Amino acid sequence: MLLRPGPRKLLLVLHVALSVGLLGAVAAYLALAIVGVTTGDPQLVRSVYPALALIARLVILPLVFSSLVIGVVQSFLTPWGLFRHWWVVAKLAINLFVAAVVLVQMPGIGFVADTVASNLPIDTLFGVRMSFVIHAAGGLVVLLIPMVLSVYKPRGLTRYGWRKQIEQGGTMPGIAPNP
Ligand code: HEM
Repeated sequence: MLLRPGPRKLLLVLHVALSVGLLGAVAAYLALAIVGVTTGDPQLVRSVYPALALIARLVILPLVFSSLVIGVVQSFLTPWGLFRHWWVVAKLAINLFVAAVVLVQMPGIGFVADTVASNLPIDTLFGVRMSFVIHAAGGLVVLLIPMVLSVYKPRGLTRYGWRKQIEQGGTMPGIAPNP
């Protein structure tokens, strides 16, 4: 079952809004994480980490999973399919990887936020706080890959994609359809 152009565009708008919003949220998170390790103002440190935890829990986490879910739904409901084109498979893998990294980071973020909220010193947590910066910077770079793949949609069918194309009457080897 494939979507008609109207609902397909609506889903695409939602998908782009969520996934581009994710990039913006990671950028905001990165800015706070950098302030957290560079500022000498203890008051600012106390406000940065609870804000960082809120952005991670209430914005980044929902956006990672909603862009993933909408992307998968779109794949099934458009001629792209989920496993036919390498660019879609790569986006799926990257999004799953980013989701896993976010989930792994969550307890550390919560711990640092709780520690500052309890007025306990966080000097010993410098390594963890630095890891927030590194993961956010890495995440930003990694998330640009699906963005570029989506816009350029490089040709290249998977084995499954070739089989499906031949079954559906496609003939030209090496040329992927652009649905
Ligand atoms: C955070 C990661 C992602 C980003 C930044 C992203 C970005 C985008 C953008 C900008 C487009 C619009 C491209 C265009 O039509 O010109 C798009 C389309 C699309 N995305 Fe994603 N996406 C992400 C994750 C995913 C995932 C996980 C999947 C599924 C595995 C997926 C599947 C698709 C499909 C199938 C389209 C084309 C839909 C259509 O033609 O109607 N995306 N994506």
